[in-house]
Amino acid sequence: MPAEIIKPDKLVIIITDDRRATRHMIRNILEPEGYHLLEAENGREALDLYNSSQPDLVLLDIIMPVMDGLEACTRLKQLPGGNHVPVLMFTGYNEGNEVEKAFQAGASDFINKPLNPEELRHRVNRLLYLRKLEMQRQAAEAKLQSSYAAIQSLSRKVLNAYEEERVRLARELHDEVGMALTTLKLNLQLLNKDLSDKGIAHEERLASSIDYANNLLSAIRSKAVFLRPPSLDELGLVAVVDNMVKELARHTNMRAELQLNGKYKKLPVEIETALYRCIQEALTNVARHASATNVSVKLDCNSQDVLVRITDDGIGFDSHGGSDTGKHLGLQGMKERVALLSGEIAINSSPGKGTEIQITIPLDWYGDGTR
Ligand SMILES: Nc1ncnc2c1ncn2[C@@H]1O[C@H](COP(=O)(O)OP(=O)(O)OP(=O)(O)O)[C@@H](O)[C@H]1O
Ligand SMILES: [Mg+2]
Repeated sequence: MPAEIIKPDKLVIIITDDRRATRHMIRNILEPEGYHLLEAENGREALDLYNSSQPDLVLLDIIMPVMDGLEACTRLKQLPGGNHVPVLMFTGYNEGNEVEKAFQAGASDFINKPLNPEELRHRVNRLLYLRKLEMQRQAAEAKLQSSYAAIQSLSRKVLNAYEEERVRLARELHDEVGMALTTLKLNLQLLNKDLSDKGIAHEERLASSIDYANNLLSAIRSKAVFLRPPSLDELGLVAVVDNMVKELARHTNMRAELQLNGKYKKLPVEIETALYRCIQEALTNVARHASATNVSVKLDCNSQDVLVRITDDGIGFDSHGGSDTGKHLGLQGMKERVALLSGEIAINSSPGKGTEIQITIPLDWYGDGTR
């Protein structure tokens, strides 16, 4: 591992010229600007200095012994970070189209000898100003990337917690509340029998209580299934979606169908849960908002990705208008779930034209089916 480079507070410039007098002259021009100046006699020395000092700017004469400026510039651009360090080249010899060659080698700027002190000072300051801006841009981008990664990991945690909570609630509803209501129902039935045996006229009230307990039981069962269908883990997505589509058709006047393309294999639980939630939200939206006659869910699975398309022929809406995410969470939630799986979602709708939602989730980075 290379020794850690401790950079001075000042910006670092390497002055490369085989003539001592020229180096001296450049030093005199740039020293008052407050830069930290290092000197090299040829391209080879400049590269060594680059490796040990991480300069902010390299000045390179073109014609030099050992390694000329053009070769040094080309090599420097291939070193780690070299692409971001500006190089200012200069020469007094300009017979062989040196300007063109300098820019081809990766120079950021070019200046003719004899050097004009004012021109050199301005060009150096400008290159360093641009370098500073570039470094600020890179730092901001890195910060943005890490905030984005943090937000993604937070969203993933929130969604997982949400899913776990739904599983817990569904289990409690089913096991505890369901059990208590069943006992209540049995008690009421027994009481009904006892009272009729004794000729006491309470049948009507008890019969309505039993009905009430019955309705409550089926309402709780369907709520538990809505929270987390127990069959998603056992039967997989296709069977559960098929069920969902049939239920929708049964409860509404819509024609609803599921179409399957390709051979559907069981997908990682994260993907199945996300797709299930998206299809559930899309179908709930159709039932609530669309006034549609037909709705279809298409599932298309191949080795690279899984594609889901939900279409309805209802009233549609302006899907490209700004969304009021404060009030409407359904479509936003779908987008977040899909983004967390590196997938893509397209929501196409316009008033009077129905709605189409298309979701693609890549499977390739799951390798053998696991992350
Ligand atoms: N299939 C559809 N047909 C017609 N309009 C739709 C359809 N899907 C969504 N919309 C419109 O888009 C809006 C936003 O949908 P979204 O699911 O984000 O929120 P929501 O259903 O209103 O509320 P929730 O947060 O409970 O889901 C809906 O209010 C509705 O106007
Ligand atoms: Mg909704």
